[in-house]
Amino acid sequence: AWLRYAPLPCSLSRHHSLPESIIALNSTTTSPVYSAGQELHKGLLGIFGKNLTVSTSLPSGKPPSKAVVVGTVAAFGKSSGVGHDVASALEPDGFWLEVKGSMVTIVGQNERGALYGAFQYLSLLARADFSDVAFVSNPAAPVRWTNEWDNLDGSIEHQYGGPGIWFQGGHVVDDLTRAGQYARLLSSVGINAVIVNNVNADANILTDANMQGLGRLADAFRPYGVQLGIALNFASPQSIGGLSTFDPLDPGVIQFWTDITDKLYQHVPDLAGYLVKANSEGQPGPLTYNRTLADGANLFARPLQAHGGVLMFRAFVYNNNLNESDWKADRANAAVQFFDGLDGKFEENVVVQVKYGPIDFQVREPTSPLFAHLSRTNAAIELEVAQEYLGQQCHLVYLAPLWKTVLDFDLRVDGRPSLVRDIVTGRRFKRPLGGFAGVANVGTHPTWLGSHLATANLYAFGRLAWDPSQTAEGLLDEWVVLTFGHDRHLRSTLSQMALESWPMYENYTGNLGIQTLTDILYTHYGPNPASMDNNGWGQWTRADAHGIGMDRTVSNGTGFAGQYPPEVAAMYESLHTVPDELLLWFHHVPYTQRLRTTGETVIQHFYNAHYAGAETAATFPARWASLRGKVDSDRYDAVLRRLIYQAGHAIVWRDAINEFYRNKSSIEDERGRVGHH
Ligand code: GCU
Repeated sequence: AWLRYAPLPCSLSRHHSLPESIIALNSTTTSPVYSAGQELHKGLLGIFGKNLTVSTSLPSGKPPSKAVVVGTVAAFGKSSGVGHDVASALEPDGFWLEVKGSMVTIVGQNERGALYGAFQYLSLLARADFSDVAFVSNPAAPVRWTNEWDNLDGSIEHQYGGPGIWFQGGHVVDDLTRAGQYARLLSSVGINAVIVNNVNADANILTDANMQGLGRLADAFRPYGVQLGIALNFASPQSIGGLSTFDPLDPGVIQFWTDITDKLYQHVPDLAGYLVKANSEGQPGPLTYNRTLADGANLFARPLQAHGGVLMFRAFVYNNNLNESDWKADRANAAVQFFDGLDGKFEENVVVQVKYGPIDFQVREPTSPLFAHLSRTNAAIELEVAQEYLGQQCHLVYLAPLWKTVLDFDLRVDGRPSLVRDIVTGRRFKRPLGGFAGVANVGTHPTWLGSHLATANLYAFGRLAWDPSQTAEGLLDEWVVLTFGHDRHLRSTLSQMALESWPMYENYTGNLGIQTLTDILYTHYGPNPASMDNNGWGQWTRADAHGIGMDRTVSNGTGFAGQYPPEVAAMYESLHTVPDELLLWFHHVPYTQRLRTTGETVIQHFYNAHYAGAETAATFPARWASLRGKVDSDRYDAVLRRLIYQAGHAIVWRDAINEFYRNKSSIEDERGRVGHH
């Protein structure tokens, strides 16, 4: 992926001074500071061919010069020049990086921070940035976790990069080398924990053998400062604990979870915490016993408190047997309704994990309004790195621009600036906890995720979790250079393609906020607009012969628009102010409704957008082919194959969707285009 440490081209590697030795202070072999020393060695060797010695203490007598010294504030001690101002500016996991010619100082607030600082320094070098710098970098939020939907048999729910790398046959595998390498990759972008099993959790994760296996897995992650967490099945007290109930207020159930938690911490002393999906898509939960979701979350949070663990509680709670004949039924309403009255009722170590939009990782969704309703509760945003509805790694879709539309959205809570990113980092409501969860689904495929270009999304996820104010463009350029090199043509070509990819995908799939229009019944892949109605899942378009779109207004529809704070609600409620890209999310309109920005009718926009999307996709293979010789042939060929496929699939999409709505609406494309003929 991006940790190649490829040699710099000569033109870039001249005229600079580099350290002559590496000092990783007080490091034992399993510590992140030790890993930092190893990483610096690997990086300087790869990029510059410099094979430096790594030692673990400062030379006695005079302070080192021409060295890179990495350690924690504590290890540097008072004497060696870490100023009080630096030490006090550092937050947990943060670091200080100072490059002064060939003397480099990296100070972590903790061991993990020191490692992050080393990765940051190496990233600068790999991008040929040799400037002197001196800065503090702190993470925006403490929760920067991936979620991996691994089943214990080794399969993954939504598996696009091969089977999982740590479970097989019901157990944790013996060889955890690759798990350790994955931790290295995650740590290099600041991710600090991994939920290792599927949210649709198997209670057998809690058997003695699996607890031992989890202990080994945590050992594999630990040198990179990555903690392990697990997803739990709410009904475990009954299914594996021999109890007759899983009622969260039952003393026996409380004791069960206390015992399980204490036992787990014996195996994994630094367990990050738990993730719980309750009362969603058939999963058990507290509602079975008429208890609240807060009762359910607190059940796990309390025993975790003794150990410093965090309970991530998912907001993805909804009824999947909705009846479309009810005009007011709306799955999008579910989260705010289910959490109504619960703000402030959660323990301090609970974080409510909210998908970015109210439905399910669609190509375009408005920000989940639940973020505006949790001012006395910690919140995290859930993003999906795995491209479940977005081409499943067979299509190039760079997701950071989509995520940024949500992170940078201003919910105007109480009429004040309330960016989603400031809510999830805890800033807006002064919450102690919060952050980012990214569903990654890493697998055995050599690219980790299933395609070379998809790793841009994992990179961007980690970097945005560290600092969500960064731009999608800036992060992309970093990733391109680190992953493919410095060539200017390559840099601009690949970046441009990636930046066009999400709008393009939206163009040839589902436009104007109608969702992805993919098959939602089985595969979540390929066009199937018919599946988006008459299903219990509540992912509807309400397309008929006359019109299309969900009426989510307060005045005439499901009322969803009214879940936003007043300024935002008013914008979505009115046809005069709703943004075109969300028109059909909020309004049911005739196919002949005109868009505010272009004046096109809705149906003509569908036709035009699908042609435009497919036309852009058709340019990708040739644009990539212009990079021949600038990328090694393995990656060149693999990416080219995917892009040729994508261009073809975009035509399939275009024709399927256009034909479907031409039939529904009986309105012809005014430009007379009919399919591929
Ligand atoms: C989607 C996905 C499921 C997953 C669910 C969730 O619906 O298709 O596989 O379990 O989201 O996030 O819980």
